[in-house]
Amino acid sequence: MKCVSIKGKREFEIREVAEPIAENGEVIIDVKKCGICGSDIHYWESGEPVGLILGHEYVGVVMNPGNREDLKVGDRVTALPISPCMKCSACETGNLQYCTQTWTKATGLSLAYPGALAPKMKVHSDMVVKVPDTISDNEVAMVEPTAVGLHAIHLADIKVGQKVLVVGGGIIGLVSAMFAKKEGASYVALSETNKARGEKAVELGVADEWLDANSSMIETALSKTNSGFDIVIECCGNEPAVTSSILCVKPGGKIVLVGVASEPIMVPTVLSVMKEVTMQGAIAYTKDEFVTCIDLIANKHIDVLKFVDDTVGLEDVQKSYERLTSGSNSAVKILVDPNK
Ligand SMILES: NC(=O)c1ccc[n+]([C@@H]2O[C@H](COP(=O)([O-])OP(=O)(O)OC[C@H]3O[C@@H](n4cnc5c(N)ncnc54)[C@H](O)[C@@H]3O)[C@@H](O)[C@H]2O)c1
Ligand SMILES: [Zn+2]
Ligand SMILES: [Zn+2]
Repeated sequence: MKCVSIKGKREFEIREVAEPIAENGEVIIDVKKCGICGSDIHYWESGEPVGLILGHEYVGVVMNPGNREDLKVGDRVTALPISPCMKCSACETGNLQYCTQTWTKATGLSLAYPGALAPKMKVHSDMVVKVPDTISDNEVAMVEPTAVGLHAIHLADIKVGQKVLVVGGGIIGLVSAMFAKKEGASYVALSETNKARGEKAVELGVADEWLDANSSMIETALSKTNSGFDIVIECCGNEPAVTSSILCVKPGGKIVLVGVASEPIMVPTVLSVMKEVTMQGAIAYTKDEFVTCIDLIANKHIDVLKFVDDTVGLEDVQKSYERLTSGSNSAVKILVDPNK
């Protein structure tokens, strides 16, 4: 079968690979749609590991249910990409995202478990979740990033009336802003370096206003909030973005760090000390949060289709990554149909 895999820095190739075989009771899935994620972009930009088949936000149909007796051929499913051991204390307390093994064999994020940029894939059977008929394929492909936003918002613990800044208007920033409003924030601002994405956040109704991170945004932020935001949700991971979070949060406020910095970064921690800021990391989601997102979407409590810009085939994956990283395009979420 044809797949897309990493060839080098910012370079994919289309190549032939063998179809997946279930060796450990895995579920084999016929992939229908797969989203391109900001984390996938980090791998593509670094060019490593060569040969990696990305794709961890997907919907598919069961071809072989493996050791899952409750599944049958033809069921529509998605899955958490992680590979928890299910034995350690993190796993036992339901925090599969902290398990030290959870990312080592993650689907679409490791060579051992190739992802959904291919027509077929094998998935850790215990992570597979069946989805109801009331949720469309595109919506299912949006569950994983939506769950990242929900987890960040749960950790942010927003109180009704608080002012929230979301730094970065990729999909993680957009869903976080959407949930911040749902939690009762009185003012949600979103900062962006990309004007088109900033404007889009306001057009889509998830942010009240966008702040241009290329200009004197800090002064604007402080004047709009009196002394800073109660909560900042950082959804970029780079040095200027984390620094702006520290500058914009109010004394005693909280920053939720969702963005991933692939290298160590320098930030003015002295300001966090002076302001007694709470810094809260956020990684992935619990299984409950993942399933909650399926329910929220299926029951029409949230609209995630508004974030989907395009659907492309495998031949256009390279172009789509370039489009998503142009710094000026408004596209945020592109889905890939490996059979298109
Ligand atoms: N913690 C987790 O579990 C988790 C899960 C998924 C993604 N992530 C990470 O979250 C981040 C966001 O993911 P995404 O899919 O939305 O990525 P994305 O690349 O689509 O979005 C990042 C956005 O930040 C903007 N940006 C860059 N520098 C900025 C700055 N200084 N100020 C304001 N905006 C700035 C970019 O223009 C871009 O629109 C990535 O680092 C990703 O790896 C973390
Ligand atoms: Zn993702
Ligand atoms: Zn574990």
